[in-house]
Amino acid sequence: MTSPAAVIVLAAGAGTRMKSATPKVLHRIGGRTLVGHVLATARGLAPDHLVTVVRHERDAVVAHVAEVDPAAIVADQDDIPGTGRAVQCALEALDARTPAPVEGAVVVLAGDVPLLDTGTLAALLEAHEADGNAVTALSTEVDEPTGYGRIVRDADGTVTGIVEEKDANPEQRAIREINASIYVFDAAALREGLGSVGRDNAQGEVYLTDVLALARRSGRRVAAIVAEDSILVEGVNDRSQLATLGAELNRRTLQRWMLDGVTIVDPATTWVDVEVDLAPDVTILPGTQLHGATVVASGAVVGPDTTLTDVEVGEGATVTRTHGSLAVIGPHATVGPFSYLRPGTVLGEKGKIGAYVETKNAEIGAGSKVPHLSYIGDATIGEHTNIGAASVTLNYDGTTKHRTVIGSYVKIGGDTMIVAPVTVGDGAYTGAGAVLRRDVPPGALAVTPGNQRNIEGWVESRFPDSSAARAAAAADQHDPESDGDPA
Ligand code: UD1
Ligand code: CA
Repeated sequence: MTSPAAVIVLAAGAGTRMKSATPKVLHRIGGRTLVGHVLATARGLAPDHLVTVVRHERDAVVAHVAEVDPAAIVADQDDIPGTGRAVQCALEALDARTPAPVEGAVVVLAGDVPLLDTGTLAALLEAHEADGNAVTALSTEVDEPTGYGRIVRDADGTVTGIVEEKDANPEQRAIREINASIYVFDAAALREGLGSVGRDNAQGEVYLTDVLALARRSGRRVAAIVAEDSILVEGVNDRSQLATLGAELNRRTLQRWMLDGVTIVDPATTWVDVEVDLAPDVTILPGTQLHGATVVASGAVVGPDTTLTDVEVGEGATVTRTHGSLAVIGPHATVGPFSYLRPGTVLGEKGKIGAYVETKNAEIGAGSKVPHLSYIGDATIGEHTNIGAASVTLNYDGTTKHRTVIGSYVKIGGDTMIVAPVTVGDGAYTGAGAVLRRDVPPGALAVTPGNQRNIEGWVESRFPDSSAARAAAAADQHDPESDGDPA
């Protein structure tokens, strides 16, 4: 296959049926926008030029296109409506950038057909070249063709044109072969055709589809190739189709990973974005969602009921019932159940973040453990340190965030409040319930509460005849020796 001279992506339409403040082509499936999917597919053909036509919500669409494909040319469609006009505007923008008008194959794609793959397009391009066509359209057969343009063929099967639903007669409406809005054109035939397309139709639009009949009439070859897998060419018009195509994309993504050696226990409840990377022998348990640029290394077990966005999971790690984003989980580390990993969490090899623990901007070194009920934010923890249950780094004084630095081989006692900024030196210990407001030198024991004081008979005098007082009196009778004095 030779690369096309240009790919034109149509993304100027309003997408009214989405009933959304967000432009249709910026809705997402598989973690990528609809137009993002189309641009990625288009790039796969290695075209000399890639043009995106915009109009509706143009600033938002242009900003997004610049982000996902900075080299793409943006063409603004003027207020003349229709797919034909959109392509004219694209050709004008293209010609403004090139020394001479482009020649050869020009591929046109709808910006709302997210499942189309480069292979299908390459085959279309190959047939176009092999047969010396002026236009090769991609079509498919559907049971419910209402709303689509129909492919009209003559008795010997030759394509004579495309008729839009609103312009079709009853006989044409019965045709089940529909136009997918995906084409390869010869640039010269495209220019010539568009030059004579009018707006004399039910919608008063410049129809790109009219180019086929015009090319045919001027003696050129026109063809339509039928895509066997209809869903590949299906467009999104409403949120119901968005969900259907999203589920299908996910099914295909999971299928690919399973064939590559990933165990997915329950594909029905597992969602994996297209850019996620999974190694062989990863196990994904039910109810797991992997988003963005999440990467999971070999032997790791993720789930059940875990949602990770842009998280790196190391080899052999286990991540159970966890919600995490922009975090790194080291090899053979364990996380969860019920852990909340916020951005900037970096857990070292064989480290542990346990039940009901929240972390943020926290580097937790190899072999260090935060096993239970803690918040660790804006902190650096060395290696082989243990953070006792229910300990908290108090990183926020109401105005500014401060950092906590804890060394290696430290034992932080249970229920320790660390009022940052505080540094705890290597090998230090802290007593349970300490409130650390000053640094702890290496090897020291930091204790802050006063000694325990027992006030005898306090319950009887404060709450006489209460259940507690009766229980205390009963306990005294059972153990007459007990006088409550310390030994
Ligand atoms: C078009 C085809 C129809 C085909 C259908 C497939 C025409 C005249 N008709 O229908 O044969 O079956 O797609 O979905 O081409 N767009 C623009 N500018 C416009 C109008 C549309 O850029 O002025 C873009 C849209 O953003 C979208 C694509 O073109 O990405 C298709 O537009 P849409 O309105 O969905 O399709 P129809 O014109 O109804
Ligand atoms: Ca339309």
